[in-house]
Amino acid sequence: MRIGILTGGGDCPGLNAVIRAVVLSAELRHGDEVIGFLDGWKGVLDDEHVPLDVLRCRDILALGGTILGTSRTNPFKIDGGPGRVRATLVAHGVDALVAIGGEDTLGVAQRLGDHGVSAVGVPKTIDNDLSGTEVTFGFDTAVQIATDAIDRLRTTAESHHRVIVCEVMGRSVGWIATHAGIAGGAAEILVPEIPFDVQAVCEGLQRRHRGGQFSSIVVVSEGAVPVEGPDADSARRATSGAPLDEFGHARLGGIGAWLAQELERRTGFEARTTILGHVQRGGTPSAFDRVLATRFGVAAVSAVHDGAFGMMVALQSGQIVRVPISDAVARSKTVDLGLYHDVAGVFLG
Ligand code: F6P
Repeated sequence: MRIGILTGGGDCPGLNAVIRAVVLSAELRHGDEVIGFLDGWKGVLDDEHVPLDVLRCRDILALGGTILGTSRTNPFKIDGGPGRVRATLVAHGVDALVAIGGEDTLGVAQRLGDHGVSAVGVPKTIDNDLSGTEVTFGFDTAVQIATDAIDRLRTTAESHHRVIVCEVMGRSVGWIATHAGIAGGAAEILVPEIPFDVQAVCEGLQRRHRGGQFSSIVVVSEGAVPVEGPDADSARRATSGAPLDEFGHARLGGIGAWLAQELERRTGFEARTTILGHVQRGGTPSAFDRVLATRFGVAAVSAVHDGAFGMMVALQSGQIVRVPISDAVARSKTVDLGLYHDVAGVFLG
């Protein structure tokens, strides 16, 4: 068989581990050939590709980023895009495509099924917002990086008796904030799923500081928003204006700085902000993500050989399973509110 592979959307630790697993399992187990398309769907549209083999995949297991490059190109936003994708695959005799990505990249893979493209999906994103899988690879690494950062912020916050607001990624879900916040012992964890009341956050910090704590870490997800009203309007004014990508997503960021300013103004506690940003996506994957990415890659090749097109490999109860891509991208997997209220809630405020 000839298998094409691409990585789309934001990069994420573990992408190269998937590529390696796909190539080694395809070549060594099945005698397949693998061709890598560059920069996500752009490479298939523009026919930019590289051959991939065992030798090329040597030493990439622990490497961050993606050796194939990535982009947020959407073939459905380009005139004749789906036809061009299909033509490239036919020209190269590609029997099946392994698409590694989040909801956007996999959503395209699923829609291309109607245009004669046979694809299997692999769930990737630090945000952990894909449905159908308990976890995506990249999330564990991002949480560890954020937790390490919070640990470091804590000692400087304590020394200066400050409130430090740590803004983390996650788009419209608060998985990174919730996990890193719990792991880092945050005083407040603010997530997009639950609009926050700035006054209540201030009161929580004041109670905490009256109780003998003279510093606090507030973890805020980049997509978190205040409850509707003047605060929400003010936060929107301070954070809006970024351009949309080809999938219609706004670039998020800035809520941390806005919040730190409000907390300082209302409580009198000195406050600072740290935006972790792309640090959370860079560098080497954790052992957990390397193993998960490897399992996903091997399972994707098996799915290709079983003709399980339109399916995504996923993790459920510790086992690798297949779920329809359409189900995985139908809606975002939001934070487990049990974890947020019953576990994190015990330690907040
Ligand atoms: O989806 C992954 C992610 O890192 C989000 O958490 C973040 O909002 C977005 O990508 C940032 O995208 P970009 O790198 O294009 O600015």
